[in-house]
Amino acid sequence: MSYAGKIEPPTAPSLVGPEPLEIDLDVNGQRVAVKVDPATTLVEVLRNTLGLTGTKIGCDRGACSACSVWLDGDVIASCMTFALDVRGRKIVTIEGLSKGDRLHPVQEAFIEHDALQCGFCTPGMIMSCARLVERNPQCTLDEVRQAVSGHLCRCGTYPNVFKATLAAAASVSGSKEAQK
Ligand code: FES
Ligand code: FES
Repeated sequence: MSYAGKIEPPTAPSLVGPEPLEIDLDVNGQRVAVKVDPATTLVEVLRNTLGLTGTKIGCDRGACSACSVWLDGDVIASCMTFALDVRGRKIVTIEGLSKGDRLHPVQEAFIEHDALQCGFCTPGMIMSCARLVERNPQCTLDEVRQAVSGHLCRCGTYPNVFKATLAAAASVSGSKEAQK
């Protein structure tokens, strides 16, 4: 067999660690410099270094979604994400959802519809529901169920989470209609 071109050997990824290193993160629209060891997860940096304790750690193994945040607009489990791997990417936490004193419509609807009890799962649930509502204000009950399907709530708040999210979606799509 002959090859037309020269095949370059794959370049090895640059090695880092085991010493801590300085990285820049973009969290809730702010650039922050932190020093982390390479095995530090994003949720550890958010909570322990930046004091953003709204993001919770439930299982710490990708099974409960309590630690959900947005990464470049997608919902991810921050306990399964190394801080090193999200340099230069946009991270939004529950603290970054409101605009000044104005809560996100999904946050308001969770309060209005009593969609929480102990509240431990709530920040993660809200991150997923808010993402759904922003992407699809015409979302259906099935889509809301799907959006929270990875979220474990031991208090069983799901029925009110569904109601709250559909109410928020209706208010967002209503105000979009009104702006036309
Ligand atoms: S704490 Fe991250 S999925 Fe449970
Ligand atoms: S409100 Fe308690 S775990 Fe969901």
